Order: sequence, then C-alpha cells, then structure tokens
Amino acid sequence: MNILIYAMLTVGIIQMIVNIWKYTQFLRSLRDVLSAGRGRVRIWKYVALVLLIFFLLGYLLVTFKGKPDIIIAGILFGGSIFVAIMLTITFMLMSRTKERSIDIAEVLIGVIDARDPNLNGHSRHVQNLTMLLYEYIPSPKKKLINPVSLEYAALMHDVGKLGIPEIILNKPDKLTDEEWQVMKKHPEIGVKILEPLKSFRHVFPWILYHHEHIDGTGYHGLKGWRIPYASRIIAIADTYSAITMKRSYKEPRSHDEALAIMQSVAGTQLDSDLVEIFCNIPKNKVLACKPEKVDFDIGDSTNQILSEQSSDKQ
Ligand SMILES: [Fe+2]
Repeated sequence: MNILIYAMLTVGIIQMIVNIWKYTQFLRSLRDVLSAGRGRVRIWKYVALVLLIFFLLGYLLVTFKGKPDIIIAGILFGGSIFVAIMLTITFMLMSRTKERSIDIAEVLIGVIDARDPNLNGHSRHVQNLTMLLYEYIPSPKKKLINPVSLEYAALMHDVGKLGIPEIILNKPDKLTDEEWQVMKKHPEIGVKILEPLKSFRHVFPWILYHHEHIDGTGYHGLKGWRIPYASRIIAIADTYSAITMKRSYKEPRSHDEALAIMQSVAGTQLDSDLVEIFCNIPKNKVLACKPEKVDFDIGDSTNQILSEQSSDKQ
C-alpha cells in the first residue's frame, strides 16, 4: 500500500511540475494579439491558477506533515491529472481562437489585395520586412514587443484601405489634396474595422500611428518617442516596401536607392536608429522578404514620400 501511495504522490508531483511549466507557457502565449483578451480563455486562466495553487498546497502539506493515506494520495494524484486535462483543453480553446484570428486576417488581406491591385503583396512584404528588422533590434527593445502581435499588426497595417473609395485607391495619377485627406483616414478606419476583434486591441495604436514622422509632421502629429516603437518599425518596412514596389506611374527603385532615400529622411520622417539597423541587414536577407509571384507595385507610402519630398522642394 505504501508503495502505491508514494508512487501516486511522486507521479503527481512530476505532473504538477509539468502543469506549472504548461501554465507559464499558456500565460506567455496570452500576450500575443491572436489569443489575448478572449473571454473563455481568460476564465480558464483563473480557474487553472486556483486549481494549481490548491493542489500545490496539498502536496506541500503532505510533504511537511507526512504519513499520507491512500485517499489523500488519490485526491492529489487525481487533482494533478485533472489540472493537466484542464490545461490541455485551454490550449485547444486558445489554438482554435488563434486559427480563427489568422483566418480573419487572411480574409481581410485577400480583400485588400483584390480591391487594390497596386497593393498586391505589399501587406505580406511589410510583414516579412518587419519581422526581419525585429530580428536585428537590440534585445532590451525586443522584449518590449510581442513578435506575434508585431507580425499581425504589420500584416494588417493598411486594412483601413478597405474603407477608402476605389476611385482614390486605384487612381493612376497623383492624388489631389482632398483625396489625400481621405487617404490619410485609413489608419483610423483600420482600427474601426478591427475593433470587434478584441484580441487586437493592444495593437490598435501600432496600426493607428504607422504614418507618424519622427519630427511630428505625420498624420497625427506624434513626435519622437511618443510614436509607439512598433509603429516606427512598421514604418521602416512600409517605406522600404513602398519605394521598391512598382506602380503604374512609376518604376520600382533598387535596394540601394531605397536605402539612400530612407537615410535621407532618417531623423525627420523615420527613426534614425532603426534606419541604421535596417541598412546594416545583409542585402540578400532583405531581398528575400519579397513574396513570391508578385509584380511589385507601390503602396500609398511611396506616393506619400514622393509627394512630401516634392512639396518640401516647393
Ligand atoms: Fe498605410
């Protein structure tokens, strides 16, 4: 009998250690944009925590008081298995939530690309470039940003273009001032589109401020450090993608030309530290970010960069 009791307690303790590790993994994954803030997952988080603490206290009491009987050992063993099952169910719930969020993101990106042929592949290109740049930013800054959240914020940064009239989106010529005012609303529209996705809430500012300039001359006039760091990263990727893509009225620029343009606006439009980091990334890695089978065209940022550069000259 004693052997059975100690076997149950030993297996139970090992299972509890695994449960604690699983729970920390679960908490970590809750920080990303695909799973954060979902009601059912949140409830499970607290229930699992209470059960974990309850059974851990049980094991501690048995360890210090000694002489456990078969019933206590059975309860503790059963408890550790129960918590393991609960955590597995929670992970399943969360992965279903993640899959749904990914599906929604894919549908939205597909609709954007379909509405604006000139943006074909731009969102995916910005996503890839953003994650490449993220790899190279210093570790302390890296820790401030959840990579999954950043990836999806980059992918969805222009989702607000769904609310921009096609006549403006597909205009082959330069936009008029009035049309620019409409185009400049796309970050706000993007946040409104994503509002029902509660898990995306913490990346709304990243999307809203992706057209800010370091000197405060961007869409909302945010300056320097007030611009979310993630938005500044996305702005670098967005700008590079915009410059190197082709539009009906403009040929794509080369990698080296793009870097030169970005360096010329570092400290005024773009974060100079991030521009420097980006310029030092090996060229082949940057070029590899292009999505396959895409005839590159320019997004609104180049239009914006070029119009701003030309207005600067005036
Ligand atoms: Fe944009």
